[in-house]
Amino acid sequence: MVTVRAPATSANLGSGFDVFGVALDRPGDVVHVEKADTTTIEVTGIGSEYIPEDPEKNTVGAVARALDAPAHIEIDKGVRPASGLGSSAASAAAAAVALDVLYDRGRSKKELVSIAAKGEAVVSGTAHTDNVAPAILGGFTVATEQGVTRINADISLVTCLPEIVLSTRDARGILPERTTIEKVVDTVGKAATLTAGMARSDPELVGQGMHDTIVTPVRSELIPGYESVREAALQTGATGVTISGSGPAIIAVCHEQEQRAVANVMLDSFADHGVEARAYQTEIGEGAQLRAR
Ligand code: HSE
Repeated sequence: MVTVRAPATSANLGSGFDVFGVALDRPGDVVHVEKADTTTIEVTGIGSEYIPEDPEKNTVGAVARALDAPAHIEIDKGVRPASGLGSSAASAAAAAVALDVLYDRGRSKKELVSIAAKGEAVVSGTAHTDNVAPAILGGFTVATEQGVTRINADISLVTCLPEIVLSTRDARGILPERTTIEKVVDTVGKAATLTAGMARSDPELVGQGMHDTIVTPVRSELIPGYESVREAALQTGATGVTISGSGPAIIAVCHEQEQRAVANVMLDSFADHGVEARAYQTEIGEGAQLRAR
């Protein structure tokens, strides 16, 4: 038996749609794998009742097929599905690393990112790598067709998850097919600012770079209270606020000493809209870790 934990992740960060991602130091999924003739899957933990155990429909089933590594796979969910916190990516990343160890395949972490992305396609329809890259590599990642670049960054974050379910497939279905050159120029500037901020571990630059005029305004309509929560966090010292992944979680960047206050106002603001929520005060964390073998 091999056990691996992979972290929740936050993709996009506003200006880096389908490209940027960060590993969060919590929550995370734990996956146990054991060799078997055919793949079977058992899911426990947060939201497990909504996750199919049929290997054809489960993200880790696709990973086991891609690695040609049949196994009995137990997934203990710490990352709620349909949260915007990379729930399927955490399971896929943990399974890819665990099955690689179980069958002694010796694939590089970057190869495992591509394999885990096949699991993402099962859930969202596209094999985007912006969640699986940080779930495997940790840190801040820039994932493109050419590969993944990882940057170590020391940044304090708050993620606030409302009790709303929003599927990635639905949140992708409403995206605009076209945009303007002005918005492209703005996005390139913000994305470059954010990357420089990560390289310097500077929360002011990262916050400035999180703004986005193409994807976030459309998706925010799907999250009741989004504008109020964002405004409250910014007034309490957050340097940037945006939707985490495809939502409904909201992510704020802040200085460490303001983390608790920012988390509290985000929760209060959701409560003012009649929405229950939970907040995680996190840092940018490590990627998937082997726990036992
Ligand atoms: N980049 C993806 C999206 C992440 O925003 O649709 C999904 O978690």
